[in-house]
Amino acid sequence: MSSIRFVRAFSSRANAVKFVANATRPKAVKAVSNTTSLRTFAIPSLNRHYNTQKSPPQQPEQKSKSGSRRALIFLGAGLIGVGTGYYFYSTDNSSEVSPTTIAQETPDYQKIYNQIADILEENDWDDGSLGPIFVRLAWHASGTYDKETNTGGSNGATMRFAPESDHGANAGLKHARDKLESIKQKNPAITYSDLWSLAGVVAIQEMAGPIIPWIPGRKDADAATACSPDGRLPDASKASKSKLDLQGFKYSEIVALAGAHALGRCHPDRSGFQGPWTFSPITFTNGYFTELLKKKWVDKKWKGPKQFVDKETGELMMLPADMALIQDKNFKTWVETYSKDEALFFKDFAAAFHKLEELGVPRTGNEKVYNFKRTGEN
Ligand code: HEM
Repeated sequence: MSSIRFVRAFSSRANAVKFVANATRPKAVKAVSNTTSLRTFAIPSLNRHYNTQKSPPQQPEQKSKSGSRRALIFLGAGLIGVGTGYYFYSTDNSSEVSPTTIAQETPDYQKIYNQIADILEENDWDDGSLGPIFVRLAWHASGTYDKETNTGGSNGATMRFAPESDHGANAGLKHARDKLESIKQKNPAITYSDLWSLAGVVAIQEMAGPIIPWIPGRKDADAATACSPDGRLPDASKASKSKLDLQGFKYSEIVALAGAHALGRCHPDRSGFQGPWTFSPITFTNGYFTELLKKKWVDKKWKGPKQFVDKETGELMMLPADMALIQDKNFKTWVETYSKDEALFFKDFAAAFHKLEELGVPRTGNEKVYNFKRTGEN
C-alpha cells in the first residue's frame, strides 16, 4: 500500500479526533491489472435503455425522514455485458457535424477517477471525507433494481429527478450529487450514471478498500418518467435483509455488501438514525463485522427510531437491519467468516459491488473493464 494512499485515507480523520485512536489500520490490498476484458460474472441480459442526450438540471431535493417505507427488495440478478458503441469518431474537424458524426473521445476515466479522489477530503463534512456519502449515492442509484420487472438500477441516473430525489431513503444524497457536479462540468462526456457509479468505486478504493472493476457505458435518462418507484431500497427499521437473496444476491454477497457500513454514519436529519458503525468511519475495513460480533448491542434510549448502541461506549450503532445479519444463521456464518478474513471480505465485496453497479445496465459482454489505480499509485 502506498504511503500516499494511507495519507488520503487518514488525513481527513484529523477532524474526527475521537475516532483516531481506535481506527483500524487498513491492510494492503493486492491490485489487479489495470484493465481486463474478463467478465467475472454470468449475468442475465438486462435492458434499460436511455438516450444520450444532455441531462436536464438536477431537481431540488426535499429532506425527508427515515429510510424507505416498505420492506424491500435489494439487488437484482446479475449483470454485465457492455455496449461499446457509445462514442462516435468523426473524420473531419468541421464544427458543423451531424449528431452521428460528432467526434467524442472516450473519456480518460483514470483522470476522472483522480479528480473525484481530489474532492473527497472535506474538512467541514462529517468525519472529513465525502467518501461514505459517495458510496451511499452509488448504492442507492443501483439498489433500486428490480429483478422481476428489470427496471431501476444505476443506468439512467434517475435520482436527478423528483420524485426519486425526494424519496425518504435518498435524503441527504443531494449533497453528494451536487459535489459531483463539478466533475461533470469538467468532463461533459461522462454520463451522470457513470459518474455516480465511478464515484462509489473511487471512494472505496481511496478509503483503503479493494480495487473494484468498473465498466462505463451507462446512459442518462432524460425524463422523470424513468424514476424508480419509492420503496425499492431496504427499510433500515426492519430485519429485511433476509429478503435480499430473492433479488439475485447470495447470502455471502448480501453480507459482504453490508460490510460497507464500516464507513460513514447515520444522521438524524436524513435517516432519523444516529451514529457510526465503527470507530474508523472513513477507512474501509472489516470492522463492521468484528464490531457486530464483539460488542454487546442494547436498545438506544431515545425518542428516535429503534436502533442499537454498543453497551460499552454508547457511541457505535447498529440498525435493526444490521442486527438481522446475526439473527439468521445463513447470514451470521458469513459475518463470522468476514470478521476473521479481511482479505476474503475485500475480494467478495469488490465482486459484489461491481455486480450491484451493473444491475440493469445493458451490456454485450465485450466491454472494457477498468481496474483503476489508486492515487499515489499512478
Ligand atoms: C439492508 C440494506 C441497507 C440498509 C437498511 C441501509 C441503511 C442505511 C442507513 C439508514 C444509513 C444512514 C443514512 C444517513 O442517515 O445518512 C446508511 C448509510 C450508509 N450506507 Fe447503508 N444500508 C443498507 C445497505 C448498504 C449497502 C449495500 C451499502 C454499500 C455497499 C451501504 C452503504 C452505506 C454507507 C457508506 C453509508 C454512510 C453514508 C454517510 O455516512 O453519509 N448501505 N445505510
